Amino acid sequence: MNDVVSYKRDGEIGVITINNPPVNALGHAVRQGILDALAQGTADDDAKALIITGGGRTFPAGADIREFGKPPQEPSLPDVINQLEASKKLLIAAVHGTALGGGMEITLGCDYRVALDSAKMGLPEVHLGLLPGAGGTQRLPRLIGAKAAMEAIVAGKPMKAAQLQKMGVVDKVVSGDLMAQALDYARQLVAKDAPLRPVRDLEVKAESADIFSDFEKSIARKSRGFLAPFHCIKAVQAATESSDFEAGLKRERELFAELLKSPESAAQRHVFFAEREVAKIPGIDKKTAKRDIEQVGIIGAGTMGGGIAMNFLSAGIPVRVLEMKQEALDKGVALIRKNYEATAKKGRMTSDQVEKCMALLDTTLAYDDLSEVDLVIEAVFENMKVKKEVFGELDRVCKKGAILATNTSTLDVNEIAQSTKRPEDVIGMHFFSPANVMKLLENVRGDKTSDEVIATVMALSKRIGKVGVLVGVCNGFVGNRILHKRQHQATQLVNEGATPAQVDKVLFDFGLPMGPFAMADLAGLDVGWRIREGLREDDPANAPEYNWLDALAEQKRWGQKTGGGVFDYAEGDRTPRPSDVTAAEIEKYRKEKGIETRDVSDDEILERCLYVMVNEGAKILEEGIAMRPLDVDIVWIYGYGFPVYRGGLMFWADQVGLDKIYAKIKQFHEEAGEDEWKPSALLEKLAGQGKGFGDL
Ligand code: 3HC
Ligand code: NAI
Repeated sequence: MNDVVSYKRDGEIGVITINNPPVNALGHAVRQGILDALAQGTADDDAKALIITGGGRTFPAGADIREFGKPPQEPSLPDVINQLEASKKLLIAAVHGTALGGGMEITLGCDYRVALDSAKMGLPEVHLGLLPGAGGTQRLPRLIGAKAAMEAIVAGKPMKAAQLQKMGVVDKVVSGDLMAQALDYARQLVAKDAPLRPVRDLEVKAESADIFSDFEKSIARKSRGFLAPFHCIKAVQAATESSDFEAGLKRERELFAELLKSPESAAQRHVFFAEREVAKIPGIDKKTAKRDIEQVGIIGAGTMGGGIAMNFLSAGIPVRVLEMKQEALDKGVALIRKNYEATAKKGRMTSDQVEKCMALLDTTLAYDDLSEVDLVIEAVFENMKVKKEVFGELDRVCKKGAILATNTSTLDVNEIAQSTKRPEDVIGMHFFSPANVMKLLENVRGDKTSDEVIATVMALSKRIGKVGVLVGVCNGFVGNRILHKRQHQATQLVNEGATPAQVDKVLFDFGLPMGPFAMADLAGLDVGWRIREGLREDDPANAPEYNWLDALAEQKRWGQKTGGGVFDYAEGDRTPRPSDVTAAEIEKYRKEKGIETRDVSDDEILERCLYVMVNEGAKILEEGIAMRPLDVDIVWIYGYGFPVYRGGLMFWADQVGLDKIYAKIKQFHEEAGEDEWKPSALLEKLAGQGKGFGDL
């Protein structure tokens, strides 16, 4: 026994307690400690049965993910669980918190399972690019059937105690004092001489011959590019193909080992930690004071304002929305209700919940009504003059200590802050559209934003279900600044001879949810066109040149919303189809510019679209706009659907090799001379040293 696992007896019941905060991860010391405690319990003649439980906030939440990729240390988790299962004394798992992955697998190695009503259990390994590798794929099917086990393992979602009881995983659900009731339950089992029930002795057969291939087909689209879901299916299938439990375990081990060394799993594990790391801001810690956010004001009930409001309402935080006219308020509120009702229709919330959210919503036309709110988020037109007026008003009416946030996507947060007498309270909160759906929130720190405001807004991001990433002030912040470079390359590639469909296919096949042109059609070609038109009017000398995208926008081909943009769309169908109008406009543009087209290869498309992003990402790091490469990774995963199994933009670049990427960027710079190809100094340095962004 050691510091992290203890053994104690309570009357005739021996209790093994795992104490490895924060989540009782099953690292080497814990695994050894469990075996030692088991040996002690086995040797303890006064113990008639053994309980295994977690101290602190949870039953173990799984293997220690930090140990993956390092040399394995005995005893392995599968061995520990096999030994638990072989115990000649009744073994009962007493579960609270989240028994996940290896934690749930421990419970499956026990004879009986008792859980607190608030407890959850699940096998989320698939989200780390793995499969349950400590017998979970062999024991769960024996307990609940092959089909149900396969579905649960591939979904990887924690399930509630009551549901687990229905499924036949949990024997008893209790409320209140878990240990007292687990001890009671153990005594009852001892009193009635309950039998040992090793799960390995149960039989399992596939419900029908096709369940595996059918299921594979059903997840093909959703699991595109991922390896783990398909390996999970194979492992469960193995459980049904032989009654030899050891053979099944061996197959599970092989498949687990393949996944563990796969680039997909390395990427997914990186994302797991990166997602947690972004919340940690150097210089800001638990001691930094945070402000209470109990009421929120939102200025503007348009596309963004409404979506932003929903985040707070759904989290139970009252919202007051301000607009210039009653009609705008009515329209905004009606849209919020419509969105909630649509969610309820899909069965994802009850009508009671809809009403609860709506009851938290309030509207006003007067700034004075915002005097008591703790946070205001401005989402009015993207115009500096208008924003300054709004912030001037907010400065006048808001109470001392209120946080004043802007949802601007392109304007200078410092300049906005300067229009108040409290720039330390001003911050950017850049939501992504649709704001009630997209998980990313770029929190933009101005020069004067206080640590307290940053700490509050970062914590609030999590409270409203967002992944908050702290970024600095620049045009487009992290996400859109990188996006614009890619969109420009995509357009250039078409100018030179590629088709929009070809460019989109290459990036879709890389794993992005859609290509650059389908994305432009979704956002609306009018958005970029209006900005370019504005620039042409304001600053003709530096204005972007007129191209085929402008020509399409002029014809009111604005994308999906008008039935056609770069692509055509059949009514009620979002599938992009190549358009003759677009092809003609591209041809016309090439002719006007005297461009001689050539065959553009898929490789060139991939390299130019992605390497330009890597170069910009490196410049963003150089300038301190993003704090760490992992911040860029998370922005692109949650803001734009960069494939998780590639770990994010910068992680992916490291896998390709920065030397290779740098050489290509240099070549493109020499060939095209465009500023965006000027190699980043940081990239050049890392490539020269044979290092990656991960070494920073
Ligand atoms: N291994 C190592 N560290 C872990 C961990 C694990 N399995 N699970 C959580 N942690 C760490 C987190 O990195 C974080 O560390 P930090 O404070 O230094 O950032 C800390 O524990 C707290 O985690 P969260 O911030 O995520 O806390 P929450 O309360 O929000 O969530 C949780 C708790 C639901 C348990 C969540 O952490 C989680 O989902 N963990 C991963 C669970 C999992 O994937 N388990 C399967 C592991 S693989 C496995 O078991 C293989 C086996 O089949 C062989
Ligand atoms: P929108 O045009 O849909 O909504 C703006 C709303 O603000 C309108 O309802 C308008 O009546 C109201 N408004 C304008 N001036 C006002 C004032 N002085 N006082 C009160 N209300 C006023 O615009 P959208 O798309 O919601 O954009 C809002 C902000 O969000 C902009 O800064 C934009 O750059 C930013 N943004 C937009 C994204 C998008 O995809 N639409 C994404 C991220 C940020």
